[in-house]
Amino acid sequence: MILILNFGAQYAHLIARRIRELGVYSEILPCDVSLKEIGRLKPGGIILSGGPSSVYEHNAPIMDRKILGLGIPVLGICYGLQLIAKFAGGTVLAGKSKEFGKKEINVKNNGKLLRGLSKKEQVWMSHGDLVAELPKDFEVLASTDTCRIAAFENNDKRLYGIQFHAEVAHTPKGNKILKNFVFGVCKSKKEWGTGSILKRLIREIKKEVGKNSVIMGVSGGVDSTVAATLLHKAIGSRLHCVFIDHGMIRKNEAGEVVNFFENRLKFRHFYFVDASQIFLERLKGITDPEEKRRAIGHTFIEVFESKVIELDKMHKKIKFLGQGTIYPDRIESAQPTKYASKIKSHHNLALPEKMKLKVVEPLKELYKDEVRKIGNELKIPHDIISRHPFPGPGLAIRVLGEVTAERLRILREADYIFIDELKKSGHYGKVWQAFAALLPVKSVGVMGDARTYEYVVSLRAVTSIDAMTADWAKLPNELLERISNIIINEVRGVNRVLYDITQKPPGTIEYE
Ligand code: XMP
Repeated sequence: MILILNFGAQYAHLIARRIRELGVYSEILPCDVSLKEIGRLKPGGIILSGGPSSVYEHNAPIMDRKILGLGIPVLGICYGLQLIAKFAGGTVLAGKSKEFGKKEINVKNNGKLLRGLSKKEQVWMSHGDLVAELPKDFEVLASTDTCRIAAFENNDKRLYGIQFHAEVAHTPKGNKILKNFVFGVCKSKKEWGTGSILKRLIREIKKEVGKNSVIMGVSGGVDSTVAATLLHKAIGSRLHCVFIDHGMIRKNEAGEVVNFFENRLKFRHFYFVDASQIFLERLKGITDPEEKRRAIGHTFIEVFESKVIELDKMHKKIKFLGQGTIYPDRIESAQPTKYASKIKSHHNLALPEKMKLKVVEPLKELYKDEVRKIGNELKIPHDIISRHPFPGPGLAIRVLGEVTAERLRILREADYIFIDELKKSGHYGKVWQAFAALLPVKSVGVMGDARTYEYVVSLRAVTSIDAMTADWAKLPNELLERISNIIINEVRGVNRVLYDITQKPPGTIEYE
């Protein structure tokens, strides 16, 4: 495996994904990981990520410098290169100006790292500091007009560095550089592929769970469906799946989910709990987003817990709670300073502590695209695998302000039309996520000859790689116009439709 040490980079996930795409397992850990942990993981190579700090800053993030002497190949990217330079005796200084964007490097010496690259190559730069003085016994491989040391290596010590970002698409030969490091230097083998991990995951679940039973809440979303199907393959009828309808799900969703688990997957122990009334009562009068999330989280645990107690009386051996946690969820919760987890509390994370169950998370090492591939191998239908993410609190965080049955009805209808039209026009699969939100305001309109005073619906469609950042989807105007017309004509209570053109950051994907 290739270990990535994260110094606060925007692109750490991208590095991990690129390495996995090469067929080699990679994991991201915080930069201050102990040597003991590294010894346990036995990485074939280590990549030091970029980061927003300056290596000379007070409290700048650093790794244990002994890492550079372990004999494990190390590749520093941007800030990572500067750290290697500093620890190996070179000098890092603030550049005359920040270098940001596409640049051309002159390759003077290909060395091992830049093998196969031409004399001039385009790269993506994003840095303020630069290496001013080369550490002893290092060789410069490439320069730009403003950055003399844009890549270096010391083959004897197996230390390598690039000032630019090989992991982004704007560095066309970036993959070649990563390949040179992973295969040429680290001698990693291509062993990471969904076919091989499927068998391993099932084996591991069997070992972990033993003869016990597992209870799992499913939502009909990709992650929990794939996790439940894997668990079902591993332990069969000792899996108990509970689907709680909290009343905040989409149109027709309850029927579809029940039909899928009962009739298509033929789960023996599948329980449908209609708790929509309880949730609506608990949400009465609440308008604050965090309070809403808390109310839903607490009610969810309460309803789920009473189902577990009921099942435990019947079956006894429920010792595990299955969860569809995927790799980015873990990274976010392990680093609470991270943007997304600080902004909104994700209620699904609080369950196991309260319930004294051990957690089994078969997808915890995987990215969403890998989960989808596993889902395909498990023959889960395409319409489930390709579903957009849907938040745990559901439509409650898309009905801004107080959640009432009437507002949920309006949103559900509008959302259904939006998604249906996206599917019909072939745009559904092109965006990361799309949905409608109901704003807590009314506006004046005119329909027929009469004045109307009705709700405003906002449509949001975004493109994204992993939901950490997102861009608004550039849907065709004619399509938006058609959707707007259908919603206003068919959904009682709406007379205005907006299209949201906010990027994340500064916005988030969801509204609350
Ligand atoms: P934000 O709104 O933070 O959303 O940009 C990022 C991604 O996370 C989803 N999301 C959630 N998923 N429980 C979940 O399981 C939640 O409480 C939750 N809140 C947001 C959101 O839909 C988007 O894909």
